[in-house]
Amino acid sequence: MNNFESKVVIVTGGVGGIGKATCEAFINSKATVLCVDNHKERIEKFKSSYTSSNLFFFDLDITKEKNVTEFYQNVKSKFNGVDHLINNAGVATLNLCKDLSVEEWDLVMSVNLRGMFLMTKHAIPLFNDNASILNISSQAARRAQRFTAHYNASKMGVIGFTRAVALELAPKVRVNAISPGTIGTEIIDNEINWRISRGYEKTREEVEYDWLHRIPMGRYQMPEDIAKAIVGFCSDTFSETTGETLNVSGGAVME
Ligand SMILES: NC(=O)c1ccc[n+]([C@@H]2O[C@H](COP(=O)([O-])OP(=O)(O)OC[C@H]3O[C@@H](n4cnc5c(N)ncnc54)[C@H](O)[C@@H]3O)[C@@H](O)[C@H]2O)c1
Repeated sequence: MNNFESKVVIVTGGVGGIGKATCEAFINSKATVLCVDNHKERIEKFKSSYTSSNLFFFDLDITKEKNVTEFYQNVKSKFNGVDHLINNAGVATLNLCKDLSVEEWDLVMSVNLRGMFLMTKHAIPLFNDNASILNISSQAARRAQRFTAHYNASKMGVIGFTRAVALELAPKVRVNAISPGTIGTEIIDNEINWRISRGYEKTREEVEYDWLHRIPMGRYQMPEDIAKAIVGFCSDTFSETTGETLNVSGGAVME
């Protein structure tokens, strides 16, 4: 088992599907976890369903610089630096490019890129030696897919940002990315229902057949699969790896 005892790990989007699984995986590896999110209801739900003296919640919007600088002032005064930053918060909407509104474009760019940038920029003075940043991209960065041109662009941006910052922060801080594949949560149901309701697909079976047959490992990935990879990628096993993107997509994306 990876041991993160005395390590301080920040997970943004920490009460969502992948984020919550990641917080739990780090807690199981003895880390101190700072869970950042702006979804009040889900924060309360996570708080009441999971007890650990090593888990701390911070309700903030990562796209607002003031919120982010206040958060890091708090971190500086209460914790012993930062060892790992998991930039996981992300949003997506579905629309063909011709129907995509400027508001949708801006929302996706704001959370997926501006939020990641702000959380990274203001963490830099606080990193301990052998620290790492792990940015969550998506298979959408590499695989063309309809309805998510804005999301695909943002997730390719995550990879570009990862490489540039990896150069700037080496050798003190490693900076890598993970690209999850299709995650088997209600997000999939929502997308399938959306496609059918607009007449882009006929039946659920057809969509599922198509999606599952693109995954050589034969199943959707689950939040716990991604969490396991995140913890592994932050561990000393990868102490010589920086600027890389790891696909965790059951083989749907191979590079
Ligand atoms: N679910 C998938 O199929 C899939 C596939 C590939 C990549 N990803 C990526 O993985 C990451 C996590 O996705 P998920 O499926 O767990 O999504 P999710 O919607 O379950 O979780 C995302 C979390 O981010 C939080 N968030 C959104 N905007 C925020 C903001 N401004 N400030 C603070 N928190 C904010 C949300 O409240 C939510 O809890 C995202 O970056 C997503 O793009 C997901």
